[in-house]
Amino acid sequence: MPALFDKILRPNSSIGHSLSERDRINASYALHKTILDPYHTQVINTHLHNIHLSQRRTSVLDVGTGTGTWAIEVANTHPFSDVLGVDINWGMMTHGARSKHGNLDFAAVDVEEPLPWPRGSFDLIHVKGLLLQISHYPRLIEKLAMVLRPGGLLVVAEFDPTHISADGYETPRCLRQWDACVKADAGGRGANIHFPSQIASVIAGAGVFVSNPYSQYLAIPASSHTNRGDPFSAARSGQIHQQLLSANMRKTFADLVEYGYNQPDLEVMLSNCLAELSNPNAWYIHRLYAVYAIRL
Ligand SMILES: C[S@@+](CC[C@H](N)C(=O)[O-])C[C@H]1O[C@@H](n2cnc3c(N)ncnc32)[C@H](O)[C@@H]1O
Repeated sequence: MPALFDKILRPNSSIGHSLSERDRINASYALHKTILDPYHTQVINTHLHNIHLSQRRTSVLDVGTGTGTWAIEVANTHPFSDVLGVDINWGMMTHGARSKHGNLDFAAVDVEEPLPWPRGSFDLIHVKGLLLQISHYPRLIEKLAMVLRPGGLLVVAEFDPTHISADGYETPRCLRQWDACVKADAGGRGANIHFPSQIASVIAGAGVFVSNPYSQYLAIPASSHTNRGDPFSAARSGQIHQQLLSANMRKTFADLVEYGYNQPDLEVMLSNCLAELSNPNAWYIHRLYAVYAIRL
């Protein structure tokens, strides 16, 4: 099974306590970036650089920007880009965040509503980590295609939150139950947790992108985390830290309670899942899919 992945990182080991929501998003961001790079950043940098060679400024949109880390990085790296980070949850953002070049802005936008930009507004649109919050992802892709300029680049990176064993074994009972609850909860909101594996075909089916978009199929470590160092340095080396693993599951826990699952039952399931994930011989992963498509 590991041979199916372009890249897979061996995690370390043990379980701990929670992070703030901000730190959770930032540590997850660092982990995803480590796994997606160097390819992810290279494709984006090359795309913007090539347009800048023609002496034109570029406009970049980061959808569901969260703490704005990606938007800030791009704005700092590309002085000739104007970067806009949008999020439905304004409070989540880096308030007062600035770029070195004064080319960064944030706005509160719900991308499930009609988009507030004219056709062809952006040279690059980046979407990452919105899967569970978007009720009809293919529709979002169609809407984003409209506001992307011809020749513009759409980057979509999402992971399937169900666990699989990197060794090809069946996942243990509690993790399977947990995954079934996550699937039902997402389905109740119209989200399809298996959509990430379909991103490339949905983009191809939209009929407005160059055929055969670049894509990456990667593994995110989801078990056997490390106690050493902090969640950020662990994430930057491609490891999942105990705090991040636990914080991710607790965040999902809150969603499952809201969906209507019985809280005491879930508490038992969560602690069993954390025990299963801390088995030093287990190696569970989430599947991360990233697609890079050029607008016709
Ligand atoms: C898991 S975070 C990902 C943040 C960032 N993209 C990253 O990769 O680190 C998902 C973000 O999407 C935002 N979001 C969810 N639904 C949204 C919507 N309908 N419109 C805009 N943003 C949304 C959430 O508020 C949250 O900040």
